[in-house]
Amino acid sequence: MARHLITSALPYINGIKHLGNMVGSMLPADVYSRYLRQRGHDVLYICATDEHGTPAELAAKEQGLPVAEFCARAHDAQKAVYDGFALAFDYFGRSSSRQNVEITQHFARKLNENGFIEERAIRQVYSPADGRFLPDRYVEGTCPHCGYDKARGDQCENCTRVLDPTDLINPRSAISGSTELEVRETKHLFLLQSKLQHEVEAWVARHEDDWPQLASSIARKWLTEGLHDRAITRDLDWGVPVPADTWPELAAEGKVFYVWFDAPIEYIGATKEWADQDPENRDWKAWWYEADDTVRYTEFMAKDNVPFHTVMFPATELGVREPWKKVDYVKAFNWLTYYGGKFSTSQKRGVFTDQALDILPADYWRYFLIANAPESDDSSFTWEHFTATVNKDLADTLGNFVNRVLSFSKKRFGEEVPAGGEPGEAEARLGEEIARLLAEYEEQMEALQFRKAAAALRALWSAGNSYLEEKAPWLEIKTDKEGAALTLRTAMNLIHLYAVVSEPLIPATSAAMRGAFALPDDTASWVGAEEAKALAAVPAGTPFTVPPVLFAKLTDEDLAAYKERFGGEEG
Ligand code: 2FM
Ligand code: ZN
Repeated sequence: MARHLITSALPYINGIKHLGNMVGSMLPADVYSRYLRQRGHDVLYICATDEHGTPAELAAKEQGLPVAEFCARAHDAQKAVYDGFALAFDYFGRSSSRQNVEITQHFARKLNENGFIEERAIRQVYSPADGRFLPDRYVEGTCPHCGYDKARGDQCENCTRVLDPTDLINPRSAISGSTELEVRETKHLFLLQSKLQHEVEAWVARHEDDWPQLASSIARKWLTEGLHDRAITRDLDWGVPVPADTWPELAAEGKVFYVWFDAPIEYIGATKEWADQDPENRDWKAWWYEADDTVRYTEFMAKDNVPFHTVMFPATELGVREPWKKVDYVKAFNWLTYYGGKFSTSQKRGVFTDQALDILPADYWRYFLIANAPESDDSSFTWEHFTATVNKDLADTLGNFVNRVLSFSKKRFGEEVPAGGEPGEAEARLGEEIARLLAEYEEQMEALQFRKAAAALRALWSAGNSYLEEKAPWLEIKTDKEGAALTLRTAMNLIHLYAVVSEPLIPATSAAMRGAFALPDDTASWVGAEEAKALAAVPAGTPFTVPPVLFAKLTDEDLAAYKERFGGEEG
């Protein structure tokens, strides 16, 4: 069995994330991790809050808190929401950890020893109105490539190109809006990415055919434009300090590393945090350092993060000249839009993950988001689509099936799975169909095609409904009690199968379905093809209970209330 190292892009510390962030990184990574664990693989799923940088400093200031305190609180608040979403991280760390500071400083020293870091005097944007140097992302202006007028000085969100603040047309301070910006001289460390261009190119060339087109095309575009040397330090109070043993002067000036330098290193840092808190996990290096071929590393992220993960972080790892594990597969997502427009944290448009959990349990969201993951294209969240999907797929197709079967059987045959007749032609056909759909589901999961996997799962649920309609045990029971018992027993076996295989998407509901049956030794973590065909894992005589309604049907009033609260149209 392979060992799977999985990371999802580190959510920035500032603010609770919206549903678009959730579906573009953490949720699919969780679904994939859960699936692989169920299939018996050794999985390490690591994530963390990305805590450094100016936005954290400014948010702390706004709340009147020291930045460390602000980050500690914000980390806990995010973690609580992810727990609510049932994200089963092996570890959820913090990029401000001691471990990340140590590893980031180690990387910088090694890059320096290997000739990939240079100290350069640069001219930096200074805003007299704000009384400070402006970090790149706090200079806003028009993108010289695509004309987007809210491009930030580090990257254009619209065309994903990486920028320098001085590239922007009509630059202004994002803090005060002041356009009276000056350029002053100061010293910074530069990562000589241009010297690594060929190596990164060769590395990308070895992988891009395996990557999804979205990831390889962005990597290719970036490489074609050429890797530029980039400043990796900033004038901030909050960040990984430049190590004084190597750069005493810069350290004395209080320079820290740029947040995008230390953030990806935190994938490693968080693994070390995981190891340090539990002596069982001491072999953390086996995942990252001189990892053998059995470790497969998959990263999840939205498309704006792709350049950093396919080019910049690999360049860093290559330049360190130590055998750190590099990504094998980059799963990149397009945007989830809100009624065709942008979800926006700063403009508070769309649905935030904490609000989502206030409204409905996690499984409703998990299923909807995965079934509509923005994989081949952007996809749009609308309340109409959400309520229709919940009602049709979750309440009718799955929930109603489970309740109907168990309630009816309890009423007519009591609280144990009924014995009844031997499986016949209809059950054989059903078994074949279930085995075929299960194979399809597995194939899509292995291929990380989440929409298609959700469609296959939905088809598995539908197959149960078709069988039930065909056999109609509520009629059958009038003439053939044995036959009705067989139908119900078969349907209960479907419920158990659904419980096992739906777990990656809807873990809480799966537990409720599984818990309906008092099976003495229910350790099944997956269902094999032969088992799926036989539909006999839950034998006659097994006691069962009828769980509460699994999914509430959402009404027109609910829909109206959601639209009223969140706004239903593009703003
Ligand atoms: O785009 C973001 O929100 C970043 N915080 C992602 C960082 S991913 C990683 F490299 F740390
Ligand atoms: Zn642009």
